[in-house]
Amino acid sequence: MVRLIGRRKVNIAVFISGTGSNLFNLIKYSKLKNSKYVVKYVFSDKKNAGGLKFAKKFKIPYEILNYKNKKNAEKKSLKYLKFNNIKIVCLAGFMKILSATFIKSFKGKIINIHPSLLPKYKGLNTHQRALDNNEKFSGCTVHYVNTKLDSGKKILQKKVKINKNDNAKILSKKILRQEHKIYPLALNKVISSF
Ligand code: GRF
Repeated sequence: MVRLIGRRKVNIAVFISGTGSNLFNLIKYSKLKNSKYVVKYVFSDKKNAGGLKFAKKFKIPYEILNYKNKKNAEKKSLKYLKFNNIKIVCLAGFMKILSATFIKSFKGKIINIHPSLLPKYKGLNTHQRALDNNEKFSGCTVHYVNTKLDSGKKILQKKVKINKNDNAKILSKKILRQEHKIYPLALNKVISSF
């Protein structure tokens, strides 16, 4: 276990595409006394992503990446990651798939949060698919990112019970609440493994 007393906090960057509730939550945790990390940079592939308001609010530098040219977008972000000494990239609702080149080139760790009990329901529309299959449980998973979609090693997972009257919206809200609990915990786990 790594002791961070007297050590500098680990720099992380968060990649978003949307609302950014996980981003907000990670920022909140980073402000706690014993937190081991600092959110140094935010990246978005959408210039109007709601989550950018949190970067602005907390005065965290951010960058919009134009994925129409994916190669350039990734090159640009890699440059910023290196310059800002980022050790962990946290994907939080980021809707683009990272290229193998990006994954190989970034020297730190890349982790993602996914709203299902992986390996079940990789990809999109996880809640509706779980409901359509009459699952009794769904949940969320934080995992390392590798070149196969939603397939990297699991870090933490949380189960959520599906009730009879749940629809995709209700289920997504219930799961999001758990995402906010496990993402900072998973991040601490990754940092402790350094
Ligand atoms: C979350 O459900 C996350 O698991 C998924 O996209 C959603 C993002 O939500 N990958 P937010 O933007 O963090 O609010």
